[in-house]
Amino acid sequence: MKPEHSKLAVVGTGVIGAGWATHFLARGFDVTATDPAPGAEQRLRGLVDAGWPAVEALGLADGASRDRLSFTTDVAQAVRDATFIQESGPERLDVKHDLIATIESAAKADVLIASSSSGLSASEIQAGARHPERIVLGHPFNPTHLIPLVEVGGGKLTSAENVAKAIALYTSTGKKAIRIQKEVKGHIANRLQVALWQEAISLVQRGVASVEDIDTAISHGPGLRWALLGPFINLHASGGPGGITHLLQHLGASQREWARDLGKYPETDDYIQQIAQGVDAELAGRDFPGMLRQRDELLVQLIAMKAVKAQIP
Ligand SMILES: NC(=O)c1ccc[n+]([C@@H]2O[C@H](COP(=O)([O-])OP(=O)(O)OC[C@H]3O[C@@H](n4cnc5c(N)ncnc54)[C@H](O)[C@@H]3O)[C@@H](O)[C@H]2O)c1
Repeated sequence: MKPEHSKLAVVGTGVIGAGWATHFLARGFDVTATDPAPGAEQRLRGLVDAGWPAVEALGLADGASRDRLSFTTDVAQAVRDATFIQESGPERLDVKHDLIATIESAAKADVLIASSSSGLSASEIQAGARHPERIVLGHPFNPTHLIPLVEVGGGKLTSAENVAKAIALYTSTGKKAIRIQKEVKGHIANRLQVALWQEAISLVQRGVASVEDIDTAISHGPGLRWALLGPFINLHASGGPGGITHLLQHLGASQREWARDLGKYPETDDYIQQIAQGVDAELAGRDFPGMLRQRDELLVQLIAMKAVKAQIP
C-alpha cells in the first residue's frame, strides 16, 4: 500500500538506515537515500542486496524493486521531494540537530521527519527546529527490514496528529507500530530488554547460572512463547479459566517476593569480562556467522507463519 507517502527519504545509511531502505523498497516505495561517508552508496546497495532474499521470501509489494533506490550525498537533495523522511544518522544530539536543520532547509514544511534514535528523545531532537510539530520518533529494531516493531512517539512540540500519521504510515508498510505515550529513556522494548539483561547479569554474578544456561532458559523457554504472544497474554493463559486476575491473586505474592530479590544493573564495568568469557565458552566450537544466518532464516519463516495465523496478533 502506498497512500500519500510514496517518495521516502532515508537519511543515514548505516546498519539501521540500510534496513529502512530495504524495508521501504520491498513495500514498493521510491527511496532516495543519503549518507556522506565515502563508499556509502556501494555499501548501501550491498546491504539492500544482502537483505533482499529475506524480504522477497516475506512477499514483495506490487512494483517493489531495488531499481527504485536512488542515492545522493546531498541531504537537501534527498529530502526535497520526499513525502516522508526517516532519519538514521549518528546517535549524537549535535549531529541530529545539524541534520534536522539541513533537512528543514529543503523539505516541505508539513512532511514528517521520523528519527530512528534509540537513546535520544523526540523532545531533544526537535529542540530548535523550525517545524518541531512534524518531528517524531520512529524507533525500529535491527534487522529493520525483518523485525516488524517500530516504536512511535512525539516530543513536547510534536502534534498528536503527526504521531498518528506516522503510525498510519508505518502500519501501511506492514510494520507493527506501537505508541510511546510518555517519553522515557530507552523507549519501551529496550527497557524491557534491559530489565531482563539486568537480572541475567546478576544471576551469572551470583553463580546461579552460566551465560549459556541463561540463553538456553530464554530461547528454549519463555522466549518461544514471547515471540507469539506477549508476556501479559501468556500470563493470562497461565491463569486457566480465571485468567490473569486469578494468576496474579494466586502467584502475585511470590512474584513480589522474587522481585525484591532481583539484582541491580552493575554500576561499574567489572562484570563485562565475566559475561564475555561466558559468551566465548558458549560459542566455542560453533560457527557464529552460520548461527546468525540460520537465526535470520528461521526469523523469516516465523514472521511469515505468524502472518497467516489470524488469531496471532
Ligand atoms: N544499531 C541498532 O541496533 C539501532 C537500533 C535502533 C535504532 N538505532 C538508531 O539508529 C540510528 C543509526 O544507528 P546505526 O546503528 O545505523 O548507526 P551507523 O553508525 O551504522 O550509521 C550511521 C550512519 O549515518 C551516517 N552519517 C553521518 N553523518 C551524516 C549526515 N550528516 N547525514 C546523513 N548521514 C550521516 C554515517 O556515515 C553512517 O553511515 C541511531 O540514532 C541509533 O540510535 C540503532
